[in-house]
Amino acid sequence: MYSKDQTRELRQASTDLLKKGGQINVADIDLLRDVLRFHEYRYYIMNDPLLADVEYDQLFKALQKLESADPSLLTADSPTQRVARGLTKDFPTVQHLVPMLSLDNSYNAEDLQDFDRKARELTGLDQIEYCVEPKFDGGSISLIYENDLLIRGATRGDGVEGDEVTANVKQIRSIPLSAKFSAYGIQQAEIRGEVLINKDNFRQYNEKLMEEGLPPLANPRNAAAGTLRIKDPAEAGKRNLEAFVYHISYYTMQKGKPVPPELRQHGGSLSLLWDLGFRSPEKEKKIFKGIDKVIAWCNEFEIQRDDLPYEIDGMVIKVNDFALQDKMGMTSHHPRWAIAYKFKARQATTRLLTVEYQVGRTGAVTPVAKLEPVAVGGVTVSSISIHNEEYIKEKDLMEGDMVLIERAGDVIPQIVKSLPDSRKGTEKKIIFPKTCPVCKSHLFKEEEEAVWRCINIECPAQVVERIIHFVSKDAMDIRGFGDANVRKFYELGLLHDIPGVYKLDFGKISGMEGFGQKSINNLQQAILQSKSQPLHRLIYALGIRFVGETTAKTLAQAITHLLELKDYSLEALQNLEDVGPKVGGSIHHFFSNQNNIAMLEELESLGLQLKNEKKQLTATGNLTGQSFLFTGTLPTLKRSEAEAIVEANGGIILGGVSAKLNYLVVEKMPEVNWTRPKNSTR
Ligand code: IVH
Repeated sequence: MYSKDQTRELRQASTDLLKKGGQINVADIDLLRDVLRFHEYRYYIMNDPLLADVEYDQLFKALQKLESADPSLLTADSPTQRVARGLTKDFPTVQHLVPMLSLDNSYNAEDLQDFDRKARELTGLDQIEYCVEPKFDGGSISLIYENDLLIRGATRGDGVEGDEVTANVKQIRSIPLSAKFSAYGIQQAEIRGEVLINKDNFRQYNEKLMEEGLPPLANPRNAAAGTLRIKDPAEAGKRNLEAFVYHISYYTMQKGKPVPPELRQHGGSLSLLWDLGFRSPEKEKKIFKGIDKVIAWCNEFEIQRDDLPYEIDGMVIKVNDFALQDKMGMTSHHPRWAIAYKFKARQATTRLLTVEYQVGRTGAVTPVAKLEPVAVGGVTVSSISIHNEEYIKEKDLMEGDMVLIERAGDVIPQIVKSLPDSRKGTEKKIIFPKTCPVCKSHLFKEEEEAVWRCINIECPAQVVERIIHFVSKDAMDIRGFGDANVRKFYELGLLHDIPGVYKLDFGKISGMEGFGQKSINNLQQAILQSKSQPLHRLIYALGIRFVGETTAKTLAQAITHLLELKDYSLEALQNLEDVGPKVGGSIHHFFSNQNNIAMLEELESLGLQLKNEKKQLTATGNLTGQSFLFTGTLPTLKRSEAEAIVEANGGIILGGVSAKLNYLVVEKMPEVNWTRPKNSTR
């Protein structure tokens, strides 16, 4: 899309504009838009940003300022036009220019050989050239561009008509608001693609839902498809959807212009789309002569499936030559020139036997479905959290039901739905308990919350869970102090609370089964070492509601001693990075409780580190004042190692993308052979 020369020029222009700062003026407006589009492309299509977020924001704001000073300068495809305004009332039904057909499915080599045999019969050829690309697992969309401008985005709907969701589609940064179709003589085009949410964003989104006591979504596909239809485009924007486009379903040429040679083959059309600035599977596509190589590639790609940052559920095999595609035609359901090769299912059906209730460290009572064990996505699943009472109602779950479960990638297995058609009448309604299954005290639910809680902080289940969290790997990391030992020591009366971890009577433990002198020495050593864990680990280990590892680091950075937090007002807490009213409220609540303060004082007297040593030794370095966020897998370091290096040099790690983020370190796309289209226009 951008030649080396153009890249150099646009980089130089970015530097010049940044230097100009407040002096940027109307004469710069076109260049400013080009520069911003270029950086969006580097970030969202190439996955290789060249500008820090703050710098992008600076240029973006300069453009906003010029456009609002003189609205006649505004253009429909200006980068500022992605900014979401207001709520969508409803999604008008619109007709697709060409029906959005589905794909026929295949599951094994024989199915693909069958497909190839039919293709050869229909075309009269001995061997067919195929283009093979991933089958993206998201929500289908159609995009219409007219005179280079994106004029409509729609969902698939029933294939003939869909919902018009242009406002949400404009929030997807990998979908260009304008593209130079005219350079190919194309006047109007309808493009098909798939909207996705990558695995990292999906995980973060689900974590956020769960923190709010809401049930997580079963898979990234539901998250992407659901987001396309939400009424608040600003919220859609926050979910960071991405899009791949893989098919030009319809186009008209400008008067007298010939059809470009790229539009003779599917592979060429992907190159054309890539060249226009779309994220097509240009890098991922492979072209093969004959079905045997196609089958081998599909098998190979299935192994790599989990390494991709987004979900795919198979491969799509398309006859490459458009003239042959036309000859083969289509049924009312699918084209005869393409087939989906579906990977092994990550869904399975099994029986929901009974429901048990677990009490977490914050008192939340979580129902857990016990299932007839079933293999899905490479693991055997025998129990699944079913989150809360609402969720049980929503999914219409009953004890004894057959249920469809899914394990999407490395995501925790979820129940997708119950299968009420296979009920026999012996199934039992699930009745949520009114009292805590452990301490029997009454359960409470806050008005806007979905979770029932045991509010007895002495509840043994909560105490044990708090200690388990405290000693866990990401918290104080006390090796040899696993869940089972915490439970055992608690039941035997050897451990009552968090400070008790440092007051264990090893004399009593040494006589116990499974505790030889060596394991006792190791445990003693690990407990001792944990006393010098850095402050942010201790803060995280306390298990304050909504305080994850990132917030714990933010808090630790802000103070020189943990007990300073008891003097922080709610307002002061909210001035900290990533701390909003909910998180701030929870921290404030924790430090207003005298019992918690007494516990912290006891921990300090037991030798734990409540001071921020690093801060006192001045945590400055080359990266002081710079913030970072790492996503995906890094080529040589673990994410935690890279974060530690940044912190050791004075930088800070943020929990999400925000205006305060200086550097977003993104995973490099897998290397795949590809060549630039020959007739590149730019
Ligand atoms: S081609 C007429 N290519 O899979 C051409 N579809 O199960 C039809 N899909 O409805 C589509 N990745 O939403 C095509 N590389 C890809 C795809 C793909 C995902 C979706 C598409 C389709 C569904 C069929």
